[in-house]
Amino acid sequence: QPLEIHIELPDEQSRARIRIGLYFATWWALNVVFNIYNKKVLNAFPYPWLTSTLSLAAGSLMMLLSWATRVAEAPKVDLEFWKMLLPVAVAHTIGHVAATVSMSKVAVSFTHIIKSGEPAFSVLVSRFLLGDMFPLPVYLSLVPIIGGCALSAVTELNFNMTGFMGAMISNLAFVFRNIFSKKGMKGTTVSGMNYYACLSMLSLALLTPFAIVVEGPQMWAAGWWNAVTQIGPNFIWWVVAQSVFYHLYNQVSYMSLDQISPLTFSIGNTMKRVSVIVSSIIIFHTPVQPVNALGAAIAILGTFLYSQAKQ
Ligand code: 3PG
Repeated sequence: QPLEIHIELPDEQSRARIRIGLYFATWWALNVVFNIYNKKVLNAFPYPWLTSTLSLAAGSLMMLLSWATRVAEAPKVDLEFWKMLLPVAVAHTIGHVAATVSMSKVAVSFTHIIKSGEPAFSVLVSRFLLGDMFPLPVYLSLVPIIGGCALSAVTELNFNMTGFMGAMISNLAFVFRNIFSKKGMKGTTVSGMNYYACLSMLSLALLTPFAIVVEGPQMWAAGWWNAVTQIGPNFIWWVVAQSVFYHLYNQVSYMSLDQISPLTFSIGNTMKRVSVIVSSIIIFHTPVQPVNALGAAIAILGTFLYSQAKQ
């Protein structure tokens, strides 16, 4: 009797699920690597305005090279596209630099605990600036989000006001970025990958003059020399890693935004923060008090309840 083997190919729905799963796993893994190298760089070289600029520069360069070598097809964009992109880029720049300033002052885990409060900002902005109404459970889900973040903040061993405010400003800026980019991406045929590439380039142009004014080449040269002397030539690879991984994780997240609903995206983003918080606490031996961890867990649970309530 010949042996018969039946292989069942996954149907369309299962294939989509596998694809989204792969996007998520890649997005989180790239994000964890970015956060680790970003913090290693900031510990040795505390100039967040320059490191933020370098992340955008690396992404812009990688995408220009991909277009020039036809690894990726360059988008066809007109002046109208850049005009629509401008508010997205302003918000992206503010959110990025504010998060990096925050991480230069406090533990990575603390920045991400505060950043898990982003849905609360999203609801408040939509309610008070856009006039959107939500069902009661959505507002109720903000109680654990805000309460959990507050509990974590007041029990944080290395609390720093600049670090806290940086994460809060980043939350607010990214809510606007998401609102503007959803609008912008709807009306364009540009892919998620190219949309993010253009966003990096415009943000780089916006951020560079500010980085020069706030920190400037003199500080950078002295700090760079100091870091290379302390760490050795490996420091340069850390900078390269944080810059390249910053671009890659954002690119994958914009590519998945193309495929999934904003709701699935925000659940994915929260899970991403859990993996960053846990891995950074392990790698940097961040001291955590039980009540501090409880605050983080309540805030994260709140963001899950928020996703359920919004559904
Ligand atoms: C940044 O530097 O832009 C932040 O680390 C971004 O954080 P997020 O993408 O996890 O919101």
